[in-house]
Amino acid sequence: MIKETSSRPETGKGNIQRIWALLPAGRRNQLGLLVMLLIVSVLSEAATVTMVVPLINALAKPESVPTFLRGFFELFGGHTTDQIRLSMALLFVILILVAAGIRLLYLWASMRVSFAIGSDFTETAFQKTLTLPYAEQTRLNSSHLLTGLMVKMQQLVFVGLIPLLTAAGALVLAMTIVATLFLIAPDVTILLVLLVLALVGVLVLGLRTPLKHTGEMVARLQPKFTERMQVARGGIREIILDGTQQFFAHELSRTQRALRHYQARGAFLSSSPRLFMEAAFMLTIVGLALWTFKSADDPISVIPQLSLVAVGAMKILPAAQLLIQNWATIRNGRAVVRDALDLVEIQAKVRGEDIVPLAKSDGTKFARDIRLKDVWFRYSAEDPYILRGINLTIYKGERIGIIGQTGAGKSTLIDLIMGLLTPTRGEIEVDETPLDRSNLFAWRKQVAHVPQSIYLTDASVAENIAFGVSKSDIDRECVIDSAQKASIGRFVNDGDAGFATLVGERGMRISGGQRQRIGIARALYKSADLIVLDEATSALDSDTEARIMRTIHELGRDKTLLMIAHRLTTLRGCDRIIELGSGEIVRVFQPDELDPIG
Ligand SMILES: Nc1ncnc2c1ncn2[C@@H]1O[C@H](COP(=O)(O)OP(=O)(O)OP(=O)(O)O)[C@@H](O)[C@H]1O
Ligand SMILES: [Mg+2]
Repeated sequence: MIKETSSRPETGKGNIQRIWALLPAGRRNQLGLLVMLLIVSVLSEAATVTMVVPLINALAKPESVPTFLRGFFELFGGHTTDQIRLSMALLFVILILVAAGIRLLYLWASMRVSFAIGSDFTETAFQKTLTLPYAEQTRLNSSHLLTGLMVKMQQLVFVGLIPLLTAAGALVLAMTIVATLFLIAPDVTILLVLLVLALVGVLVLGLRTPLKHTGEMVARLQPKFTERMQVARGGIREIILDGTQQFFAHELSRTQRALRHYQARGAFLSSSPRLFMEAAFMLTIVGLALWTFKSADDPISVIPQLSLVAVGAMKILPAAQLLIQNWATIRNGRAVVRDALDLVEIQAKVRGEDIVPLAKSDGTKFARDIRLKDVWFRYSAEDPYILRGINLTIYKGERIGIIGQTGAGKSTLIDLIMGLLTPTRGEIEVDETPLDRSNLFAWRKQVAHVPQSIYLTDASVAENIAFGVSKSDIDRECVIDSAQKASIGRFVNDGDAGFATLVGERGMRISGGQRQRIGIARALYKSADLIVLDEATSALDSDTEARIMRTIHELGRDKTLLMIAHRLTTLRGCDRIIELGSGEIVRVFQPDELDPIG
């Protein structure tokens, strides 16, 4: 069993307040309508309860039916006692059907609204996690994110919104029924209410803490479970080689069993109030019957009143039962719902790393230079500075090579230039305009990047080259051209069939070199002004690399190139080479000054 303790501080706001604050005006209006529907539904429900005594009376003594009703029945030809009895029963049936219909409508509407809110929230959370600054993205944990977006968002509906609306309905219903019953039979009603309150109080006190605890455990174990699955997928080659299948299977089953254990406990705890309430219902009826008959002079005369009590208890107790059961579900789901809401409210934690608004590029291209002015950077306030006082001007059309030991900060430097990261101190200017929130989005669109390890989706070669472009919008000519320049011979030679080849998850079904060349083709497809290659050709044999580098250098002087390489031969065609060491530029030189040994 996995033992864990809660480490998350309690926030001041409850889930309900947070949900309300996050709702758009439209949804709030829908909820308002829902409340109105609820009131109508409850009134019709109360009417059926109120009708019980007149009905029983009318059935026993048809002459006691009020004159207006009798007049009404006579309109439809009801004159005899039997006809009046029948009409009375019919009226009652109609009332019940109408009340049921309205409740059905409320049920339907509350489900619709709950799921709509669930989908609003999921959408917002997904969009927010997409637009979060890159530095924040590197801090996110994908198991938490996946579980949050897929499992917890759905739970938000099932153990948050639906029980909340159901409980609201049950509460209004219970109160109305109590009020109605009180008008008819105050003493019996008070007795019933006290009984229900005592029972509910005991159940709430007893279940509060265990429900909260199981809920916390489920919320904590869910992402763990996802993580174990992901590790088993991502590390499958090593797992097979090392023969560690048993170990990973065991790890997964340990988490999984703990999760199911707490889920079972939560399910049991939140369903248990029902049994208590049902038993209490039966005991009440028996008790009240005994009490009524004992205290009445004429046992027959109390039958109508007893029916009222039975119907009242039949209504109050299920409403109370519904209330407490939904309370239990909500309580149990609190932690999960809280996690889901955290995602909807997610924000950049570090100042200056705000979300950059999505905007259309105004089409202006970078014309002269990119200047780094005394740029300092660290990943967070606790981390050391990775770059210290970098001053560098990159002219349009230049080919710049960047070298330096591993961990020197090369990838960090280009992430800053590309606008993925923001300098901690200092400034980056493009054509003398400092990069900031207003222009970052447009600037990034002018940059193409071939990273050290390229991400491929399990789709065709063509779709991977035109990444983020819908299938029907892919420019076929451009794909072929980019693929040719990137020397993806095999796929080009096979024509359409080649481009339709599926690369497998993360490109597992193609070679490392093919993956890199797809990455290069992807950058070329973007037809950006600034192309950044980070160890982009490290997996290629030297002939292929030389061929690709030649085409890249032939790209035309309207493109600016930045390339990081460990192999110095890769940088032969560059205008300048910059060497980084401990976060500073230690040397700038020409390729012909290259020391062949490095
Ligand atoms: N997201 C991050 N959060 C915190 N530190 C990071 C992060 N990414 C990188 N670092 C640290 O920043 C330093 C520079 O990393 P960077 O990736 O820029 O090096 P590099 O020069 O590209 O190395 P390599 O040649 O191995 O790719 C390293 O010490 C690394 O541990
Ligand atoms: Mg790197």
